[in-house]
Amino acid sequence: MDDRQVAKWADDIVFSETGKHLDHIQQSILRGTWQRQKYPEIAENCKRSRAHVRKEASKLWKILSETLGEDINQSNFRSTAERWQFSNFSITGNGCVQIGKVSTDGSLSFTVPEPTQKNEDILNKPTENATLTVRQDLADAPEPNLFYNRTSELTTLENWILGRTRLITILGLSGIGKTALTLQLIPQIQHEFDYIIWRSLRNSLPLASLQTDLIKFCSGGATVFVPYPEERAIAGGLPLLEYLRSHRCLIILDDIQTIFSSQQLAGNYQPGYENYGAFFKQITESSHNSCLILLSWEKPREIAALEGENRPCKSLQLNGLGPEAQEIFTEKGLAEPEKWSELIDLYRGNPLWLNIVATFIQDLFGGSVSEFLSYDTLFLGDLESLLHQHFDRLTASEQQAIAWLANTPEPADISKIPENLQLSPPELLKVMQSLGRRSLVETVKQNGRSHFTIGPIIREYITNKK
Ligand SMILES: Nc1ncnc2c1ncn2[C@@H]1O[C@H](COP(=O)(O)OP(=O)(O)OP(=O)(O)O)[C@@H](O)[C@H]1O
Ligand SMILES: [Mg+2]
Repeated sequence: MDDRQVAKWADDIVFSETGKHLDHIQQSILRGTWQRQKYPEIAENCKRSRAHVRKEASKLWKILSETLGEDINQSNFRSTAERWQFSNFSITGNGCVQIGKVSTDGSLSFTVPEPTQKNEDILNKPTENATLTVRQDLADAPEPNLFYNRTSELTTLENWILGRTRLITILGLSGIGKTALTLQLIPQIQHEFDYIIWRSLRNSLPLASLQTDLIKFCSGGATVFVPYPEERAIAGGLPLLEYLRSHRCLIILDDIQTIFSSQQLAGNYQPGYENYGAFFKQITESSHNSCLILLSWEKPREIAALEGENRPCKSLQLNGLGPEAQEIFTEKGLAEPEKWSELIDLYRGNPLWLNIVATFIQDLFGGSVSEFLSYDTLFLGDLESLLHQHFDRLTASEQQAIAWLANTPEPADISKIPENLQLSPPELLKVMQSLGRRSLVETVKQNGRSHFTIGPIIREYITNKK
């Protein structure tokens, strides 16, 4: 029995008891513990902080203790697992997990056991020998890095996927962690799918080329002849749908803001890319068990009409990290932890921004946060060019409205339009909706009415631009 088999055995047991799978970090803890690693080594291997691994481990031992009905901890897990395995069932056939080879096209294939019925069933009866092949192509995805928290977002996404949501959009500003979050999600839900593919649209891939690529992958890498892909894509015909029906596929499309036009309200397609709108609609409305995840700075136009509580289309607005972002500062070796929450608030918990400012504080002030905070202006540095990419996309009306918010210290009531804004009430409403769809404005309730404001970093950027 190896570490993967043990993690699978534990996952099966917990799943049958609680209906929930162990997440990636919990599986890493089990595998590391099986290999007699200590928490610091496990933390290093799974790129998490030691404190986070300790916290997750303590939850894990509690779950396992409750499930197996005996006290389980780090020091007795290995002996307990061996005893259960030998005394209750043979792992042969059911617990086998084989990681396959990365093929020349960058795809990774491996086999995992089919979901099993558990507890008494798995422990007492011989189980079937069937295996299920999951084929992954994550060649277009970046390497996972250090990752903190996001437990509730991961649970939400996992529940949506288990609930057969067909189109999920993860939205947020650059650096907020959309890509990192999705990379963490994959190990948690991969057993649900036959095929998993990650594609970035950073080079504005036309839909027809994307479809051909996806079909090729979902048909096992064979060269597939798609007659007139351009015409079929434009007409809204979806040959890909046949594959999404016959296999459970997870398709992740990153950086989809590149297919939207600059200087137009959020979520308007560039000329030649309008057929993506029909594609997203068809993915949501057609009957199949596959899932498409979109990662974007802007919400596509169709999504607002398609999404809903009981609908197979959902979106997750990704906000900044909370107090757990302090781990970024621990890792960077900053001083004065009592000042860290102020810093997190100013930089709105955006992990990329926090990394940048923490490096700056370390380089310039030897890690002293109070010295950094004593300056009147907020440091932007490399953030300026990142923010510029967002602002470059705004229409003239959006620029006017956001400049007004930047000059208004308190959250603004948009029913009171200042004269210099030159926007009619309907125009201003449309503009505020668009800025919201770009994650650039924040809404706060005051006296039962919605007021609008912007974060300190965005305010600083706009003020400096003048
Ligand atoms: N939860 C997290 N814990 C620690 N670091 C994180 C977390 N989320 C993201 N990061 C780090 O922040 C940086 C930005 O994250 P990521 O690339 O996922 O952002 P993004 O939202 O996809 O940005 P973009 O829209 O520009 O692609 C990366 O270096 C990533 O490792
Ligand atoms: Mg990204």
